[in-house]
Amino acid sequence: MNKQITINYTCFDSIHELTAADKMLVELARETTNSAYAPYSKFHVGAIAKLTNGYIAKGSNQENVSYPVCMCAEQTLVLGLVNELNAGNKIETIAVSYNTQNGRTDIPASPCGKCRQFLFEFETRQKQNIRIIMSGMSGAVHIVDSVADLLPFAFNSEF
Ligand code: THU
Repeated sequence: MNKQITINYTCFDSIHELTAADKMLVELARETTNSAYAPYSKFHVGAIAKLTNGYIAKGSNQENVSYPVCMCAEQTLVLGLVNELNAGNKIETIAVSYNTQNGRTDIPASPCGKCRQFLFEFETRQKQNIRIIMSGMSGAVHIVDSVADLLPFAFNSEF
């Protein structure tokens, strides 16, 4: 039997089509690519989280000469939030952007597989969807309403 999984995402031509609140998150994510430490890949990622209490946090990728030690922006962002989350606040939205000196930066970002699994755990734990806003430094913006949309057939605790 052939089955299909459908995922929904919203596509905008530019940040100017977003709500003012989402536009601000994308602008911050773009700005935060400046705090990335990415001398090896030269791929600078900025990630912003907005919590239910209005708190806004920033993260960026932090690389290491020992490549497996590199940390993605989404990880530095969310790990810095564990005290807020422990206090009962939830992640409402995460915006991710990237900048690179040697290529196009107008294709919407797409969190890596490890980050999808990592974020999925936090979404499950907090029992509330996390919206993900993906963009580069310019151009189109993609939004999914849930990490689950980025991770079909997710490995989860039901197993
Ligand atoms: N990177 C992120 O920070 N987030 C992602 O979702 C994709 C990849 C980082 C890891 C590494 O420092 C650089 O981008 C190139 O892979």
